Amino acid sequence: MSVDRYGVMGYPISHSRSPVIHRLFAMQTNQELQYELLQVSPEKLESAVRQFQRTGGKGLNITVPHKGEVTRLVDQLSERASTAGAVNTLIFKEGEIHGDNTDGFGLLRDLVVNLELSLEDTNILILGAGGATRGIVGPLLEMQPASVRIANRTLGKAQALADHFSRSGPVTACRFNVIPVTESYDLIINATSAGIHGDTPPYPTAAVSDETVCYDLSYGLSPTPFSLWAREHGAAKAVMGWGMLVEQAAESFRLWRNVRPDTAEVLQHMNITA
Ligand code: ATR
Repeated sequence: MSVDRYGVMGYPISHSRSPVIHRLFAMQTNQELQYELLQVSPEKLESAVRQFQRTGGKGLNITVPHKGEVTRLVDQLSERASTAGAVNTLIFKEGEIHGDNTDGFGLLRDLVVNLELSLEDTNILILGAGGATRGIVGPLLEMQPASVRIANRTLGKAQALADHFSRSGPVTACRFNVIPVTESYDLIINATSAGIHGDTPPYPTAAVSDETVCYDLSYGLSPTPFSLWAREHGAAKAVMGWGMLVEQAAESFRLWRNVRPDTAEVLQHMNITA
C-alpha cells in the first residue's frame, strides 16, 4: 500500500519549516506518511490543488499568499475558517475538499498552554489589520478579554475588522500611530508584515509596560524587529511565533491523522523554547 501524502503549498515556500515539524510528529506518533514542499504560484493554485486531490493526496497546509483564495475551492468550510475568511488546512476525504483554519487555535494554545497566560479580563492590542489579524480576533474574543483594540496604519481596514467582530465582543479600532493609552495592555500582538519586509514602524511605545507580554506572529532564528523593540521598551516578555507555528501544525496533524502529537517535545527538538 502506498504511503499517505501530505504537503504545504505556498509561494515562495522554500523557507517553510512545516515538513520538518510534520516529519517529527509522524515519527513521534508512529504514523507512516510523506510530507512535501509544494511551490505553487497564485495562477496555478486551483490546478495544483485539484491535481493533488486527483492523485490521492490526503491533506494540505496552505500558506501565504493562498489562504484567502483557497476558500473558493473547498466543498465544506469549517466555522472557524469561515470566520477567519481563510483556510490553512485542507482535508481530502470521500471525494470532497474540507477547509479548516488552525491558526487561531495554534496561537491560543501557545498563549494559554505553553506561556500559561490567562486572557480573561485582559486588554489586548493587535498591531495590523490584514489576513493574520482576521484569523486571530475571533479565537481571542472567545477567551473573554476586557478589550481588543486593532491598530493599523490604514484606519479603514482596522475599522472594517472591528465592525465585523463587534457582535462577538468588545473590539475597537484606531490608527497605528495614535493608540490611546487609556489602559495598559496585558498583551500586544504584532500581526503586521512590516518585520518581514525588514521595517520597524513606529510601534506605540506608551502601550508597553513591564507587565506587557509582546507576541510576534512572525518568527526567525534571530529576534524579529518587533521582539527587539519590545525588549528595548521593557516588556515583561517578548515572544516570537514559533510555538504558534508548531501548535497550528499539530492541530492540522490531528485533523488528518486523528492523533494529537506532543508539541513540547517537537519545540524542544527544534531547539526553540516556547
Ligand atoms: P497578512 O495577510 O499576512 O496579514 P496583509 O493583508 O498584507 O498581510 O496585511 C499586512 C498588515 O501589515 C497590514 O495591516 C499592513 O498595514 P496597512 O493595512 O496599512 O497596509 C501592515 N503593514 C505592512 N507593512 C507595514 C509597515 N511598514 N508599517 C506599518 N504597517 C505595515
